[in-house]
Amino acid sequence: MKGARNQRNIRRKQVLVSTTDGGPWWRSAVIYQVYPRSFADGNGDGVGDIGGIRAHLGHLRDLGVDAIWMSPWYPSPMADAGYDVADFRDIDPVFGSLTEAETLIEEAHAAGIRMIVDIVPNHISSEHPWFKAALADPDAPERELFWFRPGRGENGDEMPTDWRGEFDGTTWTRTADGQWYLHLFAPEQPDLNWDHPKVREEFESILRFWFDRGVDGIRIDSAALLLKDPSLPEVMADTPHPFHDLDGVHDVYRAWRRVSDSYDGDRALIGEVWMPEVERFANYLRPDELHAAFNFDLLGCAWDPVLMRESIDRTLHAHAAVGAPATWVLSNHDVTRHVTRYGREDTTFSFDNNLDGTPVDLELGTRRARAAALLSLSLPGATYIYQGDELGLWENEAIPEDQRQDPMWARRGHGREGCRVPLPWSGDESPFGFSTVTPWLPQPADWKGLTAQAQSGDPSSMLSLYRSAIALRRAEPGLHEPAMAWIDLHPEVLAYCRGAAFACVVNMSGASVALPDHESLLLASGPLDGDRIPPDTAVWLRMR
Ligand code: NOJ
Repeated sequence: MKGARNQRNIRRKQVLVSTTDGGPWWRSAVIYQVYPRSFADGNGDGVGDIGGIRAHLGHLRDLGVDAIWMSPWYPSPMADAGYDVADFRDIDPVFGSLTEAETLIEEAHAAGIRMIVDIVPNHISSEHPWFKAALADPDAPERELFWFRPGRGENGDEMPTDWRGEFDGTTWTRTADGQWYLHLFAPEQPDLNWDHPKVREEFESILRFWFDRGVDGIRIDSAALLLKDPSLPEVMADTPHPFHDLDGVHDVYRAWRRVSDSYDGDRALIGEVWMPEVERFANYLRPDELHAAFNFDLLGCAWDPVLMRESIDRTLHAHAAVGAPATWVLSNHDVTRHVTRYGREDTTFSFDNNLDGTPVDLELGTRRARAAALLSLSLPGATYIYQGDELGLWENEAIPEDQRQDPMWARRGHGREGCRVPLPWSGDESPFGFSTVTPWLPQPADWKGLTAQAQSGDPSSMLSLYRSAIALRRAEPGLHEPAMAWIDLHPEVLAYCRGAAFACVVNMSGASVALPDHESLLLASGPLDGDRIPPDTAVWLRMR
């Protein structure tokens, strides 16, 4: 990365336009992603569930998060860990019941925590009644709700297109009657036909179902993929993409916005939009579309001051152009945990660059993850925490092959189980208070020192750092300033202020740097060296 970095010039100090304005919660919230299967097991079957979440709400309250984003909890055959939904209006028995979900929503609200549910509109489970009806009869009207097509070639035995799927597999599966159906993900996730009014009506009704139950926001899975070009062209450079980011998708979100706006309170629509072009990304955030979208630019970025600064600038400018809040994400249930990423020689992340098994310095990765926490929690906008980030968990790269269930494993040689390992709550050995039985994925024995219990009373722990940072984020007026401005301290140091009263300094150089002039040290991600900030360490300062 050094080469790439050296080719770029450090920009001059610039003032960035506001992306937070002290307005609705979703503009500046700290949002905690719960991956229910791995959060906490309340009924002793080795799999996390709603009972476990309810039992540990105190952890989230003490952490100080504003909202929970719940990964899918609906009935599902779990071909893609719940992102293959068979019924959007119920809860999978492995997680509990709808009544328990309603209770959780109430209890979270009582604890001052908002709830965001995950809706998956691009595809449904092959076990959904619509797809079962479509498959049962070639003349069934339900076929129109999907992408059924004859094959190419003399016998129709060639796929209708050569599109590569999002899991890097083929995208069509042939049915017994000879037709093919489209699935951008696994075959158990048939794509819906968003040109059909019934699909649109159904999802608007699903939004209402959850808004009626009090949820505060909807996370929209694979939000840019819904529409397809019905002429099914191949993917070619310099021609519009046949299924990624088609213009018509914006009508869907305008309609969804009308639904969310029809409810009281600040109900938010938050899109999962993987998009290299920032202008196209920002289109989803126009005032009559989504409220916010996940920004994965920083997540994929190397631990490199120049590249990170460019990523932050890119993000803030793109969002400012449409008046939307930026979002900051370091990890989620799909990507290698950032303690591990930042401990590797190549600190980037992308699905196309599988670094599994390359050497990891966990001590270095942890030091950087601590600094990254202060970075991501002090940038203007909303910040996402993936469960376990606050404990400093690393990727479990030692998952036995026979426990790999992720459809990505077979197709890309990278499974996402390593970041989905059950949380360690207490005790000296697995299941570390997660369950009373063996958890569904193995927990590293070395997580003994990382349990929530072990870290709770330790002021130097990752958990204490997150708790302090989130508390300061609320209390420190500087962190409510909508704008940020870079401070040019050193070419390999990221430094910025929020208004006149707050500064964050992240030393990404290989040597210590002097603390800039300040009134008081609010927080440091690691021990300081007198009045110097050691490498891979961040500080929050109250300025004079
Ligand atoms: C994005 C989700 O985050 C991921 O886990 C899932 O596999 C795909 N969308 C397909 O739903």
